[in-house]
Amino acid sequence: MKYVIGNWKMQLSEAASTELAKQVAARLVVPPAGVTVVVCPSFSALEAVHPVLVGKPIALAAQDVFWEEKGAYTGEVSPLTLKELGVEFCLVGHSERRQHLGETDEMVNKKVHALLGAGIHPVICVGETADERAAGKQDSVVITQVRSALAAVAPVGTQKILIAYEPRWAIGTGKAAAPADAAAMHSIIRETMYELLSEDYVNRQCAILYGGSVDATNVAGFLAAENVHGVLAGGAALKAEEFAKLVEVAGEK
Ligand code: PGA
Repeated sequence: MKYVIGNWKMQLSEAASTELAKQVAARLVVPPAGVTVVVCPSFSALEAVHPVLVGKPIALAAQDVFWEEKGAYTGEVSPLTLKELGVEFCLVGHSERRQHLGETDEMVNKKVHALLGAGIHPVICVGETADERAAGKQDSVVITQVRSALAAVAPVGTQKILIAYEPRWAIGTGKAAAPADAAAMHSIIRETMYELLSEDYVNRQCAILYGGSVDATNVAGFLAAENVHGVLAGGAALKAEEFAKLVEVAGEK
């Protein structure tokens, strides 16, 4: 199974999100077999986008979640609310949240637990900064992020756990990682997942995606790399034509 996930970030109004969802759905009436397509509108557009995707082969995802189900948590969104809105996947620990909102590994772990509890598949984002890579620390940074995110996680049944390796320096910069470097990180992530979860579960229910300046011109290189089971795209996901191209390429791999 390959995944193509579009992260719309805070780029679109509700009306523009609905329009983009319609355009994507029109292009993916019959998406290639073996490809799971997911879009992540902002919270405020989830309710409007959901009906557009009903009956279509495109799953709805949120970009974040809070770890409690209910209570005095002003401004936060419960996993139960996301479930009610038709959300099937949810990003956790995106580097923009780690960078601008002070999201820690501990918070990411709580969110992963909350999502699994609500029956939503987490897409855990990890990745090193440019300075960390320059210092040769990328492996240890990413291993720590993965270990923390999956601490005490014991998935059951059909729950999926996706990890998106997104080097911070590649996000929104137009400077994607080299596929071979991404593959090397994915292999480390896979080994770390094996330590924490059963090998059988990881092989069956988990996927490791690459994200960071993925577009129609470079996606094939990533999807051909070992242990790269899909892509998480930001900028390229805002253009229906280009997003559909990512899906088409994923279907050929
Ligand atoms: P980008 O964003 O494709 O625009 O680099 C990816 C992401 O932030 O998930």
